[in-house]
Amino acid sequence: MSAAPASLPAASEGAPAPVVAVRHATVSFGGSPVLEDITFSVAPGETRILLGPAGVGKSVLLKLVNGLIRPDPGTVELFGEEITSMPEDRLFPLRARTGMVFQEGALFDSLSVRDNVAYQLIQDPNTPDQEIDARVREALRFVGLEETFSLFPASLSGGMRRRVAIARALINNPEFLLYDSPTGGLDPVTSTTIMELVMRQRDAHGTPSLLVTHRLQDAFMLCTHRFDEEKGAAVALPKGETVRNTTFLMLEEGRLIFDGSLEELVHSENAFVREFIQ
Ligand SMILES: Nc1ncnc2c1ncn2[C@@H]1O[C@H](COP(=O)(O)OP(=O)(O)O)[C@@H](O)[C@H]1O
Ligand SMILES: [Mg+2]
Repeated sequence: MSAAPASLPAASEGAPAPVVAVRHATVSFGGSPVLEDITFSVAPGETRILLGPAGVGKSVLLKLVNGLIRPDPGTVELFGEEITSMPEDRLFPLRARTGMVFQEGALFDSLSVRDNVAYQLIQDPNTPDQEIDARVREALRFVGLEETFSLFPASLSGGMRRRVAIARALINNPEFLLYDSPTGGLDPVTSTTIMELVMRQRDAHGTPSLLVTHRLQDAFMLCTHRFDEEKGAAVALPKGETVRNTTFLMLEEGRLIFDGSLEELVHSENAFVREFIQ
């Protein structure tokens, strides 16, 4: 009798495969590094809040994750596929499974709200208009802006524009969401409305996400509240409790100096972290 073949290594003992895994990634522009030796991952169902002051590389890091910027050296895995040097035509369908809310919302002023939200769907000429309209309305309903369907961005407030940008990111039922400073430049009340949408997507759909902010109050709100569908609002967890699976990353001048829970963040001994959260 011949020897039994060596068994394959078990594919997934323990933790489930990450949605995104970045390993030892460096990004440079014109020879000088903007991100250096970055390693982290986002697990299924996990929300990661990326903190850091202006100019440390937060937006670059988001673009690294969906392949808009490539690392050198280092690797990026998205949905289990190595995208580090994947050609754009193969990367495109993977990127289409993500949703991105760009900094400042970045709507097209010459397009109606309907066409802004439909943008990804319009790229596929086979999608019938009726289906596009129905899906745009559904996405707009989620952000509470159905009535803006035929309007143009110029007639909307800053907060409404940001909500349209969120609807646009949700149009393809993304498996992973990237939010770049979704409350940047907004007043506190409007910011809370936006964070409730982020929270609602997390708690109603369990979509994993990576969210950039430099506003601690937004970050803490995400960790200490959950979205209550019946009340249609965020509700605070009992004092001392935090939302499982919502954790922090922090950048200081292109280096990841923190990766952990809210509890670990507030007790960090790192001088930069301490100064930031004061
Ligand atoms: N495409 C680019 N070309 C050259 N430099 C860039 C580019 N994108 C970002 N940078 C530089 O990288 C640094 C980090 O930028 P960014 O990620 O936008 O910071 P933030 O943390 O404020 O989002 C900045 O110094 C910025 O000027
Ligand atoms: Mg930025």
